[in-house]
Amino acid sequence: MSNSSFELRNTRLEDIDPIIDLCAAVYPGMYSWGPNQLTSHLEVFPEGQFVVVQKVPSPASGLVTDRVIGMASSLIVDYSNHDLRSKWKDITEWGYLGNHAPERGRTLYGVEIMVHPEFQGKGVGKLLYQRRELLARERRMLNIRAGARISGYHRYAQKMSAREYVVAVIRGEFSDPTLSFQLKRGFRVIGLTPYYFHDPESLNHAAVIEWLNPEVATEADHASGDLEFLDAAKAAALPLRPRSPE
Ligand SMILES: CC(C)(COP(=O)(O)OP(=O)(O)OC[C@H]1O[C@@H](n2cnc3c(N)ncnc32)[C@H](O)[C@@H]1OP(=O)(O)O)[C@@H](O)C(=O)NCCC(=O)NCCS
Repeated sequence: MSNSSFELRNTRLEDIDPIIDLCAAVYPGMYSWGPNQLTSHLEVFPEGQFVVVQKVPSPASGLVTDRVIGMASSLIVDYSNHDLRSKWKDITEWGYLGNHAPERGRTLYGVEIMVHPEFQGKGVGKLLYQRRELLARERRMLNIRAGARISGYHRYAQKMSAREYVVAVIRGEFSDPTLSFQLKRGFRVIGLTPYYFHDPESLNHAAVIEWLNPEVATEADHASGDLEFLDAAKAAALPLRPRSPE
C-alpha cells in the first residue's frame, strides 16, 4: 500500500533502531520502545506490525533507503482474560505481546500508532489504520480495540473530569489531538480507563475505542459499551456503525 511519497509495509528487523528514534521524536522525554520489545513483536506476530517509510535516494551512491516515518503495532487479544479497564502493561504483557492469542482471540488490539511530527496531518496515520482494518477483515476479527490517549486533557483537567472531557470530544465541542483522529477513523468510545499507562498529557487515562467489523458483529455487539459515551455519539450524530474504508 502506498501513495506518491510514502510506502506502507510490514516491519523488519532493520526498522527497530529507526522506530526507537521515531519514538524519541514523537514522545520526547515520555517513554521509549526497547529493542527487545520490538524484536518480540516480530517474533510473536510479524503480520501485525507495520511501518510507513519515505524513500530517500542517496545522491552519492544512487541507493534508495527507507526512512521510517510511522509505525503501528497490534496483537490479537482474547478478552475472556481482560476487560475494558485493563491496563496497557497487562493487555500487551509489558509491550512484549506474550499474550498474543491467534487461536481464541477475536480482537485485534492496537498497541501503538505513531507518526513523526514532521509528517503528521499528511495521511500517514490514516494509511496505518486502513491497513490494520484490512488485517482485521482478512482474519475475520470481531473488532479492533485500543486504549486511545486523550492527549489534550491536561489543558482542561482543572475544569472537568476525564469523563466529561471525553464526552465533549465525542460531541465535537473540543478537538483532541489523538482521540479526534481515532473518531474520524470510524472508532467509537466504549469505555474509559483511569490508570492505563504513564502519560502526563492524558493524566494516565485512555479512552477505550472500538471499531466493529460489519461482517462479523451482531446487534448485541453494537449495543454494548459505556452508555454515556454511546449516547454522546448518537447526540453528535456520529456514526455508531463503523464506516467502510475510504
Ligand atoms: C494520532 C496520529 C497517529 C495521527 O496520525 P496523522 O498521520 O497525523 O493523521 P492523518 O494525517 O492520517 O489524519 C487522518 C485524519 O484524521 C484527522 N485528524 C488528525 N489529527 C486530528 C486532530 N488532532 N483533530 C481532528 N482531526 C484530526 C485528519 O484531518 C484526517 O482526516 P481526513 O480523514 O478527513 O482527511 C499522530 O498525530 C501521532 O503520531 N500522534 C502522536 C502519537 C500518539 O498520540 N499516538 C496515538 C496513541 S493512542
